Amino acid sequence: MNHPLDNWTAVILAAGQGKRMRSSLPKVLHPLAGRPMVRYVVEAALAAGARRCIVVVGPESEVLRTALGDRAAYVVQPEPLGTGHAVAQARAAAGDAEHLLVLNGDVPLITPETLARLVRAHEEQSADLTFLTALLEAAEYGLVQRDAQGRVTGVVEAAAREGAAEGAAEINAGQYCFRAAWLWPRLAGIPKAANGEQYLTSLVAMAVGEGAALVPVQAIDPDEVRGINDRAQLAETEAALRRRINRGHLVAGVTIVDPATAYIDAGVTIGADTVIEPNTQLRGRTSVGSECRLGPNTVVRDSTLGDRCRVDGSTIEEATLEGGVDVGPYSHLRPGAYLCGGVHVGNFAEVKNARLGRGVKMGHFSYVGDADVGDKTNIGAGAITCNFDGEKKHRTVIGRGVFIGSDSMLVAPLTIGDGARTAAGSVVTKDVPPGALAAGAPARIVRKDADPT
Ligand code: UD1
Ligand code: MG
Repeated sequence: MNHPLDNWTAVILAAGQGKRMRSSLPKVLHPLAGRPMVRYVVEAALAAGARRCIVVVGPESEVLRTALGDRAAYVVQPEPLGTGHAVAQARAAAGDAEHLLVLNGDVPLITPETLARLVRAHEEQSADLTFLTALLEAAEYGLVQRDAQGRVTGVVEAAAREGAAEGAAEINAGQYCFRAAWLWPRLAGIPKAANGEQYLTSLVAMAVGEGAALVPVQAIDPDEVRGINDRAQLAETEAALRRRINRGHLVAGVTIVDPATAYIDAGVTIGADTVIEPNTQLRGRTSVGSECRLGPNTVVRDSTLGDRCRVDGSTIEEATLEGGVDVGPYSHLRPGAYLCGGVHVGNFAEVKNARLGRGVKMGHFSYVGDADVGDKTNIGAGAITCNFDGEKKHRTVIGRGVFIGSDSMLVAPLTIGDGARTAAGSVVTKDVPPGALAAGAPARIVRKDADPT
């Protein structure tokens, strides 16, 4: 006997139009916690042990291919003629796979554990068709039919049922295992429904009719298998995913003061004893060290923060903070900001494409862009690197232990030497030698040996 999971190929259905989303973006690409919904399905299948993933995509699938990259192989369903027709498109790509795990691409919270349970049941019972069911409000789902003895007799789609509202009932969750040799010859024989689609779920009644080995497996947690067909379900699923992600961080030693207002994307890493205050978003490829305090009201996107950082009410994008940096409230670190250990950025400060050396202080209302600032330099209130001359950006290089006086305008390109000072209100247009004091507008060197302390 083959080892379980050895000869599995997953087929993920992602070619539907997603009409109920009313969107120009394909439904399965709508993001959840920062990743396209279908990526969760692909990753769950791979984590459950599928050796390959074939994603069935629509004809205009470039965005989808880009989003998933080489995690999967792709086959095109030229027209959305139903889930049965979609699976048939994977025939050639599936090659000699003996079993197929077929998954709806719009059921993103499915876990690898549940898929592994489904696969195990399929293996153990040598089934032709195994499918996952769940107890959920049935209105929009395919409803599982059972006879008086409790045996499954078929699945009836919502479109084929009379009346609207229904309570909780056993629904078809949209995950199936098939023995390939049973599946392939039967797909073409699926009848067309009233809307012209071939429903994959018709195979259940077909299996019953011919006495094939059919195994229903009920999901333990029905919330895992909620499908997304419209934006209300998208929002509900996002909330459920967020709870799942937050729980993972809480268990791993992160304090989240109010998990209902902590928005942490999938894949973000956070060290132990970090505290996430209310209304804080950690997005994209972000990693946060331990013993940090982030928030309230903070957004961090695609950034790396070392240990013991403090960010209060600020926005940080594509930036790097070494350990012990403190920022905010009301500051903005933009792409390319690199803050060395112990930097203090106070309120209403903006840093872009600039390196602030160890212990730099930039307390109030300043802009530092396209600059390199040496260790222990102090940027006074209202100081600005004037990096743009209307056509080009220029760099400002500020040495170590420099004192930039309040309201200094530093007109780039410019170099200010170690230990130099600029007087309050100076407009510095020429380089300042180390240790000198520049003052006035435009600034002149008024002293060559300004006290660098
Ligand atoms: C489907 C099931 C239903 C189940 C529910 C679970 C069918 C006919 N019905 O209904 O029994 O309760 O999922 O969420 O399968 N797709 C294609 N090509 C197509 C049509 C759909 O690839 O031609 C893809 C979609 O992109 C989607 C998945 O298949 O990822 C399911 O399609 P959808 O239209 O959402 O089916 P439901 O009405 O939700
Ligand atoms: Mg659906």
